[in-house]
Amino acid sequence: MSISEAVSNKNTSHKSIEERLQIQRLVEATKIVSSSAGSDVVKGLTQFPKSLPAYYFYDDRGSELFEQICELPEYYLTRTETAILQEYAGEIVKITGACELVELGSGSSTKTRILLDAYRQLNYPLRYLPIDVSAGMLESSARNLLKDYPSLQVYALAGTYELALAKLPPTQSPTRMIGFIGSSLGNLNPHECDVFFSQIINALQPGEYFLLGIDLHKSKEILEPAYDDSQGVSAAFNLNMLDHLNRRFEGDFDTTQFEHWAFYNETKNQIEMHLKSVRSQTVQLKSLNLTVNFAQNETIFTEISRKFNLNTIQQQLTTKGLVPIQTWTDAKQWFALLLCQLQVRD
Ligand code: AVJ
Repeated sequence: MSISEAVSNKNTSHKSIEERLQIQRLVEATKIVSSSAGSDVVKGLTQFPKSLPAYYFYDDRGSELFEQICELPEYYLTRTETAILQEYAGEIVKITGACELVELGSGSSTKTRILLDAYRQLNYPLRYLPIDVSAGMLESSARNLLKDYPSLQVYALAGTYELALAKLPPTQSPTRMIGFIGSSLGNLNPHECDVFFSQIINALQPGEYFLLGIDLHKSKEILEPAYDDSQGVSAAFNLNMLDHLNRRFEGDFDTTQFEHWAFYNETKNQIEMHLKSVRSQTVQLKSLNLTVNFAQNETIFTEISRKFNLNTIQQQLTTKGLVPIQTWTDAKQWFALLLCQLQVRD
């Protein structure tokens, strides 16, 4: 061993990555790809109007395209939320004190690092509990974090939010915060949103925290280009869902015969994404034993992305007992970060 190696070994007297990583698989991988898989596709494509669940966006290609969306000049969400986090992470840490972080849909974890950096300064053992349906994604991003944060412990949960929230291990730190950032809440309709808040409440102890990032109301002129950009990345992201179904269920969707269609529904305050059939056509999904007919201009509803009014969501959270104790926004009030605390009940 050379001298420099000996020195660097001595400096890294912390635990190895293996010792600091634990992955809990809540759904067997085989269950995801076996018989019951695809029943939601059959259901969505045999009803009228047709629809598909938004999680089919996120195969490897889809996740890559989403990362590209986050960097588009028109897609202000990621940039705006990152700036808010950078400015106020210190305040979040001051309020919660030493805290372990649970994160729903951890993704590329760029934004998570801002919080971890702030917590690291407290010099308290740091634990991070990412939750994601993709075990592969979880493991690779956990390993990247463990490399860069030598005292970090990661307890990853692979499974749906619902399952993982019901199976969280006991809090080890003085308190815990569940983070749900990126405005993914916008993908849930009002009823699903209500159910989701109940799951958060059941997963928290009174006094523990919930950090929520949401996209706010703004003009159509700003919203629509964010979901229909000039480079066509959003279109590719939407159309990739059909390619994903082709790969997964032996389908023969011809993506040149469908068009990306996204608009802001001002009555419901939501972006709606659809795929429009450019002609009448028939599509087969062999492994699902499914034949689907499309009329010309018929649509498949693929996603809603709701935009929120700050007062309304604050009231809704308060009514639920998830009291917003601090809210931060950017100068244009485009995006908001809400730190909520589960009320102590009597
Ligand atoms: C990941 C749900 C926050 O709704 O803005 C981006 C997904 N869809 N472009 C959003 C998305 C089309 C995104 N979320």
